[in-house]
Amino acid sequence: MKGVILAAGKGSRLFPVTHHVAKPILPLANRQTIEYAFDRLKEIGITDVCVVVGEMENEMKAALGDGAPFGVRLSYVRQTEPKGLAHAVGFAKDFVGGESFVLYLGDAIYSDGFDAFAKRFEESGCANLNIVKPVPDPSRFGVANVEGERIVKLVEKPKEPESNLAMAGLYFFGPQIWTVLDDLKPSARGEYEITDAIQMLIDKGETVLAGVYDGEWFDTGTLDSFLDTSKFLVGGQTKVASTATVTGAVGPSTVIGDGAIVECTEISDSVVLPGAVVKVQGSIRHAVLGGNVSSDQN
Ligand code: DAU
Repeated sequence: MKGVILAAGKGSRLFPVTHHVAKPILPLANRQTIEYAFDRLKEIGITDVCVVVGEMENEMKAALGDGAPFGVRLSYVRQTEPKGLAHAVGFAKDFVGGESFVLYLGDAIYSDGFDAFAKRFEESGCANLNIVKPVPDPSRFGVANVEGERIVKLVEKPKEPESNLAMAGLYFFGPQIWTVLDDLKPSARGEYEITDAIQMLIDKGETVLAGVYDGEWFDTGTLDSFLDTSKFLVGGQTKVASTATVTGAVGPSTVIGDGAIVECTEISDSVVLPGAVVKVQGSIRHAVLGGNVSSDQN
């Protein structure tokens, strides 16, 4: 089985910090976000990985290279425009060939591995198995209606969700997926949705399964969710790189990267990117800081 990681989004919900660093390589607990994806894929025996990149292609290649330092073999394909998950996965078709593959959303972080799901996918011989998780706010996600283990209906970000099971960003696919992508139409939000592609598999009579994920799942796409993920990964502790210079108190859930310079009264619940220079009078709470940040700019 091979792995495909989607990492072509613009990271717009994390602007302006993603002007400095592409979202998939933003440091979380002083590792690049995408390294956690490599770990999860390697745990289920996947080392051949294709990263679908966008306009940050060069920066991503410079940071990740051929993947050897991370124990994976990386290929890259360029998605011409961020037109949706099903559009993005189409660029990985040649890389995948006729094999099965795992599709992994590059901004997702999981506390536990996927061994049981990989085994179930293989032994069931189904066309597709998706990780789902009950959530309090299903309208923000693709939502699955299930009967037993089977998914019978999928809707992307429904206004009135019929279930609380969110598509949790990890998909096992057989080659059947390539038979539906060409017929896919853009959704109301103008994207080629992976949920619509999977619905087409269901409509064709293919077996599509759900696997309920009991672990913690974080989507790191927004400021709040990025900081929540960071807090989880450092266990609420403080992580200050030995090469960082800090003047002021460092409170809980704070990560300060290599070579960063931080001058403030107190900093807590925050992430300072490597090399950032932060000079602020007063305290900093709940922030992701990169580049040059100072309180006397205005
Ligand atoms: O987080 C889980 C949700 O992810 C699912 O429940 C939804 O069904 C699924 O559509 C997706 O929804 P989002 O709207 O949250 O996806 P987002 O735009 O955040 O993109 C997810 C990842 O895919 C992100 O790492 C960027 C990458 N991506 C996104 C687009 C739109 C691409 O590589 N290319 C793209 O064109």
